[in-house]
Amino acid sequence: MTKSIAAVLVLLTLVTASVALSQSFNVKMGATKGPVQPINFSHKIHAGTNEMDCKYCHYGAANSAWANIPAVSTCMGCHKIVATDKPEIVKLTGYADRGEQIPWVKVHYMPDHVKFNHKRHVRADIACQTCHGPIQEMDRVYQYSSLKMGWCVSCHRQNLDNPNHPASMDCLVCHH
Ligand code: HEC
Ligand code: HEC
Ligand code: HEC
Ligand code: HEC
Ligand code: HEC
Repeated sequence: MTKSIAAVLVLLTLVTASVALSQSFNVKMGATKGPVQPINFSHKIHAGTNEMDCKYCHYGAANSAWANIPAVSTCMGCHKIVATDKPEIVKLTGYADRGEQIPWVKVHYMPDHVKFNHKRHVRADIACQTCHGPIQEMDRVYQYSSLKMGWCVSCHRQNLDNPNHPASMDCLVCHH
């Protein structure tokens, strides 16, 4: 009797453990793929193969706290003439003709109590890839760094004595 209860318990534990394992595995796999976007835009084609500068599209990264997502008009600068017969470009042109912006799905989130500032980091010569990984190789963008407090703070600690761009460990620098 006790033996069979023990066996059931072992079995249950195993099932729970393997479900938990496969779930965390799924979350991980999902995270490294990134969300499906309304237009199948590839950074690999644009920033990789065609070597476009990140700031051609994300000009806000060097000039303001937020890096902007480009407007559909930025895309049409090229796609009025480039690959116009491709289905995804026909879809893109549809948004432009209707005067609609593309409802891109956000990849990165910061809680409201945290302040982050692109300009300060980009002007301190920290490469986009240091934080965002090899975006120019991604067909679909995924979150590369944890964006956890420990991640921010460990780089700030290394830059406390940075001669031109000293970073701070003060709570109120990052928190409201
Ligand atoms: C031709 C314009 C273009 C270029 C060039 C470009 N991007 Fe993007 N980027 C986009 C668009 C459009 C999105 C939104 C769709 C997506 O996530 O794929 C985006 C999304 C992103 C995101 C995710 C934003 C979020 O939702 O959190 C990051 C990070 C990013 N780009 C970084 C880069 C970096 C780094 C480079 C240079 C290596 C670069 N981009 C070059 C157009 C561009
Ligand atoms: C500086 C010029 C330029 C800009 C700006 C640009 N693209 Fe492109 N795009 C290209 C080139 C070049 C290709 C490759 C075309 C080919 O292989 O035939 C391409 C390919 C694509 C493709 C793949 C088409 C296919 O199915 O083969 C999509 C989708 C696309 N671009 C979307 C966008 C979006 C969305 C934007 C704006 C965020 C954008 N592009 C901005 C030059 C540009
Ligand atoms: C020091 C790390 C760091 C560097 C360097 C950095 N980013 Fe970011 N990026 C972040 C963080 C953190 C977020 C999420 C911030 C938020 O939601 O406010 C983010 C978000 C973004 C977004 C989404 C829009 C936004 O502002 O939330 C884009 C696009 C982006 N980054 C592009 C770039 C580009 C392009 C560069 C280089 C020119 C760059 N980033 C350099 C950390 C960095
Ligand atoms: C790769 C290194 C690195 C990472 C990662 C990083 N930072 Fe920084 N951060 C710096 C440096 C260096 C400076 C100083 C820049 C300057 O003085 O111009 C700075 C400055 C700042 C500032 C401006 C400080 C002020 O005095 O106004 C804020 C806010 C900030 N970081 C927040 C964050 C947050 C939040 C994160 C994580 C989401 C983060 N940083 C991740 C290196 C980093
Ligand atoms: C360099 C930027 C930075 C500094 C400095 C910083 N934090 Fe944070 N903190 C963050 C970020 C980013 C998050 C959100 C991500 C996370 O929860 O790890 C966060 C989250 C938190 C949270 C919420 C944790 C949770 O589980 O929701 C608390 C509380 C907090 N910080 C307190 C502090 C205190 C106290 C200090 C000073 C000793 C401090 N922070 C300094 C960036 C910073």
